[in-house]
Amino acid sequence: MKTSRGYAAWLAVSGFICVAITIFAASAYVSLDMDQARPALRGSLHYGLLVAHIFTGTVAVLAGVSQFWPGLRARHPRVHRVMGRVYFAAVLPSSLLGLVCAQLSLYGLATSGPLTVLSALWFVSAVFGLRTARQRKFGEHRIWMIRGFALTSAAVTGRLWGLLLGALMPEGDGLLIFATANWLSFVVNLLVAEWWIQSRGYTRTLPSAALRPSISSRSAQSSASVA
Ligand code: HEM
Repeated sequence: MKTSRGYAAWLAVSGFICVAITIFAASAYVSLDMDQARPALRGSLHYGLLVAHIFTGTVAVLAGVSQFWPGLRARHPRVHRVMGRVYFAAVLPSSLLGLVCAQLSLYGLATSGPLTVLSALWFVSAVFGLRTARQRKFGEHRIWMIRGFALTSAAVTGRLWGLLLGALMPEGDGLLIFATANWLSFVVNLLVAEWWIQSRGYTRTLPSAALRPSISSRSAQSSASVA
């Protein structure tokens, strides 16, 4: 499918916003100073798990954004494959660490509820994305990767929802706003992802012309390690 200028510009702007918010969110943890952490923590082990979640999550966002670059898969299939592997290597641990951090959260069900559901969905989408690539079911793979990245970018949209709800309800209950932002962060993203999949006519089976030789033949050789 040819990429229009408007579509490429939209991708560039949303990719930039995604990367900027992710780097900003992670920046407080680069110093490894526990006092800089935003959520209240149980202790150094909790902090270590959170930092590992944040660093792997940051890699997942950066690797995931790069996969949407128009023409990357067609023109640089090797880069697409390497970034795909990096993405999975980041999402799988980050989602499991997110699941653990959600149980350790000191803010109760408001945080642990949505983030437990999100972590589980994030992990499952990565497993399906990886499995369908290894099975060379590239139509299904594309659909799972879109769903998976919709969940990855919940880290970005959650912060935007938090800002928006906070601005709309300056006197509102902070925990309620936080919980609502956490739910909206991935439910809305998943709805948009399903709309995207439908509107672009993505099906579980790719037309054979869409399977470029570079991808399909290489995948046959390395079906045990494709991402
Ligand atoms: C999409 C699935 C994700 C889930 C389920 C998830 C889950 C969590 C959980 C449970 C916490 C701890 C909250 C608390 O203790 O109250 C947390 C914090 C955090 N996560 Fe994630 N996370 C996800 C993705 C990401 C990604 C991709 C990044 C990339 C930067 C990220 C960055 C952070 C940061 C920076 C914090 C600390 C809170 C803050 O400083 O704002 N998360 N996350």
